[in-house]
Amino acid sequence: MILGMSTVNAPTVNAPTVDVDALVDVDEATARERDHRFVWHPWSPVRKDPGDGPILLSGTGYRVRDASGRSYLDAMASAMNSSCGYAHPDLIAAAERQLARLPHFDLSVGTHLPVGAVAERLAALLPGELGRTLFVNSGSEATEAAVRVAHGYWRNLGRPRNRIVTLAAGYHGTTLVAQHLSGLPTNATHAQAPFPVTRVEFPAEPRRLRAPESLAPLAGAFEQAVLDGEPPAAVFVEALVNVGGGVVLPAGFLRALRDLCDRSGALLVLDEVFCGFGRTGRMFGFDHDGITPDLVTMSKGLSGGYIPFAALSTTEAVYRTFADDPLIGGLRYGHTTGGHAVACAVALAVLDVIERRDLVTASAARGRQLLDGLLPLDEHPEVADVRGLGLVATVECHREEFAAVTVARARERGVLLRRQGRAVMAIPPLVIDEAGVNELVDAVGQAVAGN
Ligand SMILES: Cc1ncc(COP(=O)(O)O)c(C=O)c1O
Repeated sequence: MILGMSTVNAPTVNAPTVDVDALVDVDEATARERDHRFVWHPWSPVRKDPGDGPILLSGTGYRVRDASGRSYLDAMASAMNSSCGYAHPDLIAAAERQLARLPHFDLSVGTHLPVGAVAERLAALLPGELGRTLFVNSGSEATEAAVRVAHGYWRNLGRPRNRIVTLAAGYHGTTLVAQHLSGLPTNATHAQAPFPVTRVEFPAEPRRLRAPESLAPLAGAFEQAVLDGEPPAAVFVEALVNVGGGVVLPAGFLRALRDLCDRSGALLVLDEVFCGFGRTGRMFGFDHDGITPDLVTMSKGLSGGYIPFAALSTTEAVYRTFADDPLIGGLRYGHTTGGHAVACAVALAVLDVIERRDLVTASAARGRQLLDGLLPLDEHPEVADVRGLGLVATVECHREEFAAVTVARARERGVLLRRQGRAVMAIPPLVIDEAGVNELVDAVGQAVAGN
């Protein structure tokens, strides 16, 4: 018997008796005051006043609307995770249907239909033998899981390895384990180091890194980090350094890391939380170098910002070693809502939209248009570099103050940009069209020029 629509009909949902709109709808001043009094915003300064950050009410396509009725071109892609844009009917329908049928069930006890379907879909998208997937809720949890799997793998083999080699400017999330990987100053934690990490510094300024001449020094620095000292469990990197400044790495770097990991036995972990699902103009960031990692973490674009979701995929060979775990014969890790059925259903719909609308090709084309439009800003005395890959464009400024002013001016012109230190980043949803990119280019140009 085929399980699905015929046998798993959605139960009739009775008319709601709780009017959430009535609980939420207030005037702008009340909303701001309520937020100021009761909400603790992550990664944000504690303010004495309510501030003037936008209060977002709704969105369609690549635009969002705030409480005062202003519309913005969202070149932050929400939290860098909007792949298919806002109010996509297929994604809403997928969530609604699954919510009505079954929100979730504990995957350590049983299973549900969407999780198998999305795991199979990812296996078909990923290269090589990356056919086994664990689902979690956030990019940080996927990092946490990847580190535990890397450590567990070596323990299962009876040859424990704990050291992780990574980029100092990398960012892999904000759980204690994930934050410990990064060498970014804001990521310093005050806890004792839970395991050894070697953080490789960039051998050149970010603006020089993508040049072919940077490949040998960067690959050489990793070679030294991996081969000196205790053998590492894993090398853990992003294909494009996101939070660390929107830095494009030299072509061939991941290929060099693949070769280094093959020689040293270290597992190669690619953090595709940001790059995955078309952001850089290829399905995965590592596709630019044509390599196959041993572990891949994914999140943002996979559920398009509609619902928390993340995944860690690895090979059957790595997975099978966990049968030798002495306590449970499997992975001692998981979350209550990991592999949430609604999130799986939404991810299936996202992957469908990406395929049907060919958003990966679109990202490459619109990305080229965006970068070509922004490149003349390189001449501006406040600008250190303009770079990009797919729909990730970075205008690196000499001064952080100028970057902040540029973002504020763009907002006045109806465009939301992201700032990471001195880097101003334009990261629109993959559904942005040609006219939207022109509008974005104009707004960034005027914001930099101060017009
Ligand atoms: C490359 C990368 N890895 C991991 C993370 C952490 O993901 P999350 O914020 O969902 O925990 C991020 C978030 O920005 C990221 O950009």
